[in-house]
Amino acid sequence: MMSYARPGMRLFTFLLFLALRVSVLPRVAAFNMTRNDNLAVYWGQDSAGGQKPLSAYCADDTIDTLILAFLYVFDGPGGEPVIDLANTCSKSGSPVFPGTALADCSFMAQQIEACQARGKAVTLSLGGATGKVGFESDASAEVFADRIWEQFLGGESATRPFGKAVLDGIDLDIESGSSVHYAAFVNKIRAHAKRETKRYYITAAPQCPFPDAHLGGTLDQAEFDAVYVQFYNNDCGLDEPKSYNIDVWDTWARTKSPNKDVKVYIGAPSSEHAAGTGYVNAKTLGKHATDAQSSFDSFGGVMLWDASEATDNDNYDKAIKKTLTAAGGEKSPPKPESAPRPKAGRPRISPPLRHPDEEPRVKSRLFRV
Ligand SMILES: *[C@@H]1O[C@H](CO)[C@@H](O)[C@H](O)[C@H]1NC(C)=O
Repeated sequence: MMSYARPGMRLFTFLLFLALRVSVLPRVAAFNMTRNDNLAVYWGQDSAGGQKPLSAYCADDTIDTLILAFLYVFDGPGGEPVIDLANTCSKSGSPVFPGTALADCSFMAQQIEACQARGKAVTLSLGGATGKVGFESDASAEVFADRIWEQFLGGESATRPFGKAVLDGIDLDIESGSSVHYAAFVNKIRAHAKRETKRYYITAAPQCPFPDAHLGGTLDQAEFDAVYVQFYNNDCGLDEPKSYNIDVWDTWARTKSPNKDVKVYIGAPSSEHAAGTGYVNAKTLGKHATDAQSSFDSFGGVMLWDASEATDNDNYDKAIKKTLTAAGGEKSPPKPESAPRPKAGRPRISPPLRHPDEEPRVKSRLFRV
């Protein structure tokens, strides 16, 4: 008797659960890369100090993509990569997997999944200003791609820093080391992703001078979903109206990128302290963004470095998202037939380390100067 009743009971409970879920939870739109009002924000390096847990930045509809920064060493102790999320999780502040310097940040799994449940994409950035990165051959780049897939994306591994959470993609913020073999890396990640129904995103954060010294060749050879161009710490930045070159990046997107639907984001510092140069106030950045929305089909939104600086700066992220949404979104504005796409920016100087690592922490994502 019981054995007959149970499945029915389970079904009933399940249906009840579904009904409650549908009626109680707000409907959340999934992350949509084809929009032109997306806000992508780097989180992890605690650029301003006082960085809050990831979940704090997913509590409202401001940020669409959270980019975890950084995985800054490809081949560390035990042959494993090294990640650093400053005050939240690092090799000096958290347990590491035995024989490695790879931090176990699996306490973040629930937070990551909660962000994703709110329709946000959570990706991992590789590189940073002080990264020890690079490949010796296409073959080693492919092996590394397999490892990244197994440890952070859809694969399986005993050493998954974020536990069962499956990140939504990978960002390349390569600012040092050899610039070759990255296309093989990207292609291998894509080959894994192709076998899945879940969508994975691959982005890059080139500096605005075109072509980018470290990523230029890769951007022409492999498919990216978006470029977060760093329009700061460079003379083509947002603070240099005459040489600001988003049009060049739009032209690249339309004519050179292997993915003709690639999105170009305006990458900007979220406070005066977040970069050496390139900061502009929210009104000025908002104007750049709405101009790009109406001029470039390739425009995808704004990238900010970083989350902690934005909060400190009077919630700069919220101001920018508001402007983006007001003018962009679903309806694409009428565009000239030959609408071009936008381009991106550059890194900034890092703040002093906040934990006692012997190594400088990757500070800004964009570090460099
Ligand atoms: C994604 O955004 C585009 C552009 O705004 C829109 O046309 C499309 O319907 C959206 N897709 C989904 C699944 O919402």
